[in-house]
Amino acid sequence: MTVPTALPIVQAPMAGGPSTPELAAAVAGAGAFGFVAGGYLTPDVLRDELDRTRALTSDPIGVNLFVPGSRAPDPAAIGAYAARLRPLAEELGAELGEPRWEDDGFDAKIDVLVSAGIHTASFTFGCPAPEIIARLRAAGVRVVVTVTDVGEAEIAAGAGADGFVVQGAEAGGHQGTFDPARRNETPLAAALDSIASVGLPMIATGGITTAGDARAALDAGAVAVQIGTALLCTPEARTSVPYRRALLDRTYEDTVITRAFTGRWARGLANPFAVEHSDAPGGYPEVHHLTRPLRAAATAAGNPDVPNLWAGTGWTAITAEPAADVVRRIGADL
Ligand SMILES: Cc1cc2nc3c(=O)[nH]c(=O)nc-3n(C[C@H](O)[C@H](O)[C@H](O)COP(=O)(O)O)c2cc1C
Repeated sequence: MTVPTALPIVQAPMAGGPSTPELAAAVAGAGAFGFVAGGYLTPDVLRDELDRTRALTSDPIGVNLFVPGSRAPDPAAIGAYAARLRPLAEELGAELGEPRWEDDGFDAKIDVLVSAGIHTASFTFGCPAPEIIARLRAAGVRVVVTVTDVGEAEIAAGAGADGFVVQGAEAGGHQGTFDPARRNETPLAAALDSIASVGLPMIATGGITTAGDARAALDAGAVAVQIGTALLCTPEARTSVPYRRALLDRTYEDTVITRAFTGRWARGLANPFAVEHSDAPGGYPEVHHLTRPLRAAATAAGNPDVPNLWAGTGWTAITAEPAADVVRRIGADL
């Protein structure tokens, strides 16, 4: 399996705002592989996003989904976290959300993918059941599973996946670890090195924002690189204004891996919320729903101190160029 594009570059699916049909189409137009981010969307909205993407490009595209996990192990800890957040909610004039579990409409979205004529389905947060992978493959869809270590890669290979997105600890956004309690600290190069033994094609992701980063990942055995943070400030991404500004103005000095926002480990800019609550309890999507109104209220007020500002370790190299220029710059040595 190689990518069906001129350049071995894949646009990371970025749920929660940044991914747009315009971004997928611009990336595809520059010779890379575009993705629709299906996480958080209802099945109907996912269908609309696919239609809108199809109206902008006839190139092969992928769709990414979140694999549902189990309920939060310690609801009382989430209650205590809610109590801790109450003063901030009052300050922001927002109500805390209900910390509810749901499966992100997973089965209905699989039905959408089976009939959508897409090239690839990618998954994060776990591995779909072998029956689901077989159903997608029978419909002509390649299946790629995000993995962070050899154990996860062996499970995905055994379930019938065509390949992996190998995610290093440098990555912006959520870690794709199958066990949400496990915090991934393995750098991309080491992950590629060990997962190569499983023998399926690897798409490398995490911290890739320059041509040199991309070249190194291909030299380490990857068939392609998947870039997320590098595209966040492009005009085609729907990244909020305070998020963009924090990235480009370097409002915060570093990135941090935190559970503060969603109850799942994720890397983002080290703003006060990420740092002060990095010991937040596990529990995705319960904690995501709990904090969401606070993050939305702060974003609406132009305040970058509270929202999740996902970013990988390569964030200081990013620019506000059009997506096609970013793709060409990162692909210059490939
Ligand atoms: C804002 C943002 C949203 C993301 N959303 C998703 C997603 O919906 N699904 C997914 O599989 N990965 C998601 N990721 C992770 C990317 O697939 C990828 O692992 C990561 O962007 C790679 O690191 P980089 O950001 O340093 O390029 C997201 C990353 C970011 C930065």
